[in-house]
This record gives sequence, C-alpha cells and structure tokens, in this order.
Amino acid sequence: MRVLGIETSCDETGIAVYDTDHGLLAHALHTQAALHQDYGGVVPELASRDHILRLLPLIDQVLAEAKLTRRDLDGVAYTEGPGLIGALLTGATLAKTLAWTLDIPALGVHHLEGHLLAPLLEEPAPAFPFVALIVSGGHSLLMDVAGVGQYRQLGDTLDDAAGEAFDKTAKLLGLGYPGGPALARLAEDGDPKAFRFARPLTDRPTLDFSFSGLKTQVMLAAKRSDPAQYADIARGFEEAVVDTLIWKCLRALDETGRDRLVVAGGVGANRRLRQRLQAELGERAASVHFPRPLFCTDNGAMIALAGALRLVAGEREDACIRATPRRDLSTLSPPAGSP
Ligand code: KG4
Ligand code: ZN
Repeated sequence: MRVLGIETSCDETGIAVYDTDHGLLAHALHTQAALHQDYGGVVPELASRDHILRLLPLIDQVLAEAKLTRRDLDGVAYTEGPGLIGALLTGATLAKTLAWTLDIPALGVHHLEGHLLAPLLEEPAPAFPFVALIVSGGHSLLMDVAGVGQYRQLGDTLDDAAGEAFDKTAKLLGLGYPGGPALARLAEDGDPKAFRFARPLTDRPTLDFSFSGLKTQVMLAAKRSDPAQYADIARGFEEAVVDTLIWKCLRALDETGRDRLVVAGGVGANRRLRQRLQAELGERAASVHFPRPLFCTDNGAMIALAGALRLVAGEREDACIRATPRRDLSTLSPPAGSP
C-alpha cells in the first residue's frame, strides 16, 4: 500500500510517500524558520498561509521523485494533532480533498505517534516492545510501547519540554530562533566542567521531567558572566539535560524490563545525546534506536509511515475534516481492524 504523508502541525511542511512493501519512496521538507525568525517564534497565521503555498508543489515534487502520479496512491495520512489549529487544518483539508477526488482513504495521525514510530523508518528497525523517549519542542514523554497504538505513559514533563528548554535557554544567550540547534552548536566549543547545573528530579524515583528551574539557573549564570563564557554555559546546560534524559531512560528500562530504547522528536537530533546513549546502552547490552536527525524533527515520512501502518491494518475514518490542537497520546488504540 502506497501512502502519501502530510505534516503541517507547526512550522514545517513535510511530504513523503511510504510503501508498506518497499519502505520510504521519497520525501521533502520545507522549513519556515526564516519566515518566523524576526518574530522570535512561530506566528501561527503566517505558518498556515505558508503551508497553503507549499503543500501542492511539494506533493508534486515528491511524487515526481518517486516516479509516481496521484493515481498510484492508495491512501493519504495527515497530522490531525496536536499542533497549531490553522496549520493542522491546511493539511487535513488537503488530505481529505485529495482522498475524496482519488477515491482512496484518508487517515488522521497523532503527531507524537509519528515521532514515536519514526525509528521504524531506519534499518535495523526496532522490534516491539520498547521504551520510547519523545523529546520535542512541546513534549518530553517516556512511553512503554507494546505495539502500534499500545502506549502506556511512564513519565511526562511537569513544566517546560526538553526542546522548549533548549529554545528558551538559547534565547537567553542571544541565539535567536529556532534556538535548540544553535545552542547545541555553541556548546561544542564549551568546557563541560566550567558550569555545573542541576539534574532536575533525578534524586527521586519519578520518571517525570522538569526543566524550567534549569532555565532559571542558566539565566542567573548568564547574568553573572561575560558573553565569552556563553559557550561554557551552553555546554553545562546541554550536559545537564543529556544526563537527566539518560538517567530517566535507564530507569524506565529497569522498571519495564525492556532492552530496547527508541528516541525521537527534535531533541533526538542532538549529537551529544545520541553519542552518550549509544555508549551507556552498549555497556548494558541494550540497544538504542534513533531516526536519522532529519526524521527526529518534524517531517512527512513519519506521518506517512504511521498512517500506512494503520491504513494497511484496515483502519478507516469518515469524510469529516478533523484537526485536534490538543490530544493525549495515551488515548490511542491499536489499529481498528487488527486482531
Ligand atoms: O519534534 P520537533 O521538530 O517539533 C515539535 O514537535 O515540537 O522538535 C523541535 C524541537 C525544538 O525545540 C528544537 O530546538 C529542538 O527540537 N532541537 C534540538 C536540536 N535540533 C532540534 N535540541 C537540541 N539539539 C538539537 N540538535
Ligand atoms: Zn514534532
């Protein structure tokens, strides 16, 4: 089954075609970073308008790359939520319209399920069950994953998400928007021993996260420091976040007895997190699976994949156009139609 994936939850237009027999056939991404840069964050209305401009040309580009026409598609998957309501509606409306005109099914995908399943785009794909760490701009979640749609939440963020902490800290250090990758780049030149920040909630058994206090510590350190020390501060911050995430992941593996960890979402692109987790899990004879960095951040491939796994199992929805800006991941069920 060949499924077109459409991601428009925030500031990235992502398109892909996933084939349940042959894997990912083509993908393309348009990032709106330059559009929102001057405002220091995403302007929802500008995001929606830009998605409208980009969607059809990107779909044509991806189909051409895959040497397919619209008639070769068997289904359309789109991000139903969570996300910005206007941005979601652009993708949902187009997906439903395309599906209607082609007489094929369209299916709304939970954005975080897309992130969570993205490591399955890579070889070797992790087998179920596994523990998943989802660290994006809006979420820091630890989930126990038994199969598609079988998710048990182990931990959540009490305040800022990991990506949000990266972005806010980057802003404090004058790195602009989007800040996470810029902060990680600055940290490369920093001394890991110059600043030691707290590892929040690692002194308790909880698997929840809290990063807002860390951001305040960085703010106070920056106020007392010279800009020449900002690389050291960035490095100290990154070390604290990475240590905290690793500590929670190891604890989640211990608690669940799983030996596979999947890491997804934008912060999963962080080089130090990837290196450190590889080393830590190698020592424990456990495996860690990441999507390639491009598929850690928002993309169409993960939506095409997640939608395809549900569509191929027989899941269908009515012709209503749906977008759900807030949606709890633990409310999902296995694909309707599967045994
Ligand atoms: O998953 P994503 O693309 O969007 C959401 O669904 O939120 O995640 C974006 C987040 C941003 O907060 C961004 O700063 C962060 O991921 N991010 C990074 C890196 N690349 C993206 N954080 C740390 N290091 C990176 N290399
Ligand atoms: Zn995302």
